[in-house]
Amino acid sequence: MKKVLALVLVAMMALGMVAVASAEGVKTYKVGVSIYQFTDNFMTLYRNEIESYFKSLETDSVKYEITMADGKNDMAEQTNQVQNFITQGMDVIILNLVQTSSADVLIDMIVDAGIPLVLINREPLAYDAEGKTIDEAYEGILNNPQVCYVGADARQSGTFQGEMVAELDNHGDINGDGKISYIMIEGDPENIDAQYRTEFSVKALTDAGYEVACLDDQVGNWDQTKGQELCANALTKYGFDVEVVFCNNDAMALGAATAITTAGRTVGEDIYLLGVDALEEAVQLVKDGEMTGTVLNDHIGQSHTAVDVAVKLLNGEAIDNYYWVDYVKVNKAYVDAQ
Ligand code: BGC
Repeated sequence: MKKVLALVLVAMMALGMVAVASAEGVKTYKVGVSIYQFTDNFMTLYRNEIESYFKSLETDSVKYEITMADGKNDMAEQTNQVQNFITQGMDVIILNLVQTSSADVLIDMIVDAGIPLVLINREPLAYDAEGKTIDEAYEGILNNPQVCYVGADARQSGTFQGEMVAELDNHGDINGDGKISYIMIEGDPENIDAQYRTEFSVKALTDAGYEVACLDDQVGNWDQTKGQELCANALTKYGFDVEVVFCNNDAMALGAATAITTAGRTVGEDIYLLGVDALEEAVQLVKDGEMTGTVLNDHIGQSHTAVDVAVKLLNGEAIDNYYWVDYVKVNKAYVDAQ
């Protein structure tokens, strides 16, 4: 009888030990990620890298359970997702806002739930309903040690676009009339990246002393099909007067490239085309001379920074409120040198 009891005890201990090993030996962190829209080309690269980088950081004792949600460019949808993340007890949330002007609502919800927050890609600069900037608002970014923003300063990307035009032999003035006539195809106007790129691409030219003329400025909402349509319309309307096509991102520039070819125009000869992101297809077009330049929007650097800072927050380490990743100018000389 004693023997049997001893055996049972040993068996129980063994079982107990196994349970302890799994309960105490492995820590699984729950990470909620909400992306403003899965169909966005650039954010697809970004979110895939978030997942694979988290996986690469896993060890025998630390695991990350990632829930990736599609905001479908719908603020109500994203608000629901954040509510679910809170109910599910996420240990950290990474948030790519659908609507930056409502950032305070979501930040407050997450902060009140005591969950650390990493905002990415869409910088909440807009004013809240009471007219305060997000940093002045209750629990904004700067006022909170558990909240930060990881992004790239879009002024730099716009400046690089303008500089690539200024650096051309004719400085973008193909017809020699003393001014650079351009069309602008903008991303989502609420997005600070779109606002800054629109402003700073042109500012780089005027700061360098060149005269500019805006023939057309339209919103393409970051979308390739829309970019193609807007560029085609402008080419029909303004023909060879269009010397430079500025697109706030590469998706729209890829669309514009198609419109340019369809209109029988030739990049580098009778028109110039600029984008931002350095998507693989765009870099190929730069290499082939079918795009004048793009700007590397470093999704690897940004996603890794976002994950690294999320891990710091999970470990209870102190963080900065802002993390900036540099853009890189990508013209033919740069691509050929790679
Ligand atoms: C990228 C765009 C993208 C947008 C999404 C920007 O930084 O350049 O391609 O659509 O972020 O917010």
